[in-house]
Amino acid sequence: MKQVDLLYTGKAKSVYRTDDPDVYIMKFRDDITAFDGGKKDTLGGKGRYNAEVSSFFFRYLEENGIRTHYLASVEPAVIAVRGLTMIPLEVIVRNVAAGSIVRNYPFREGEVLDPPVIVIDYKSDAHHDPMLNDDLIYALGLATPEELDQIKAMALAINEVLSEYLDARGITLVDFKLEFGRSNAEIVVGDEISMDSMRLWDKETGASLDKDVYRFNKGDVLETYAGVAKRILAPPKGGSA
Ligand code: TYD
Repeated sequence: MKQVDLLYTGKAKSVYRTDDPDVYIMKFRDDITAFDGGKKDTLGGKGRYNAEVSSFFFRYLEENGIRTHYLASVEPAVIAVRGLTMIPLEVIVRNVAAGSIVRNYPFREGEVLDPPVIVIDYKSDAHHDPMLNDDLIYALGLATPEELDQIKAMALAINEVLSEYLDARGITLVDFKLEFGRSNAEIVVGDEISMDSMRLWDKETGASLDKDVYRFNKGDVLETYAGVAKRILAPPKGGSA
């Protein structure tokens, strides 16, 4: 399998076509951005931590019966994925109130949301990712009612699997963002599941273990990413994985 040409370049990842039309190569770059691109840096080694964690979670989800685009790890910051037709939705699952939901609604930071809250944004830089509702999603032709039901059910199932996994390692999954695509008629998880796309809090100290460290200058971003990757890839404390 040979990398051919650049298909798409985002804020922190680049996707390449290969000589196999069904397989793409995804590179996790060392770039990090926040606030709609308003804050930007390059942190040597960051791409690799996000690739490791994403690859691990994709494999773990597959083991739990959830289809993802993951095929194989190629290099430390590079994975091979199934080519999908991406659906331009950012599907955010929230277990604890933090970030934009606290800024925009009368929730207290740290308030538990039970049942979890799903928020779906339109992935469109030109429109600054506005929040959608089901009717807007249908009217814009982004997904059918059947597809949207499936996307929400998959998002909640993934939330259960990941929350339990992280909880056993002393980490609260506060919220996270998923993207989905179509492979023939099948809905498949795409993009990444990493410290850039999750909000993670240490259960004991409440410390941020994710991109909030970068957003709000809470500490050493690389050290945080390295530490959380190690915790995620290791067996749980006091038990076997
Ligand atoms: P949210 O609280 O909506 O945004 P902000 O980062 O402005 O506080 O984010 C909820 C979760 O979704 C958080 O874990 C980060 C993730 N996310 C992304 O990965 N990309 C995005 O474009 C957005 C809006 C959120």
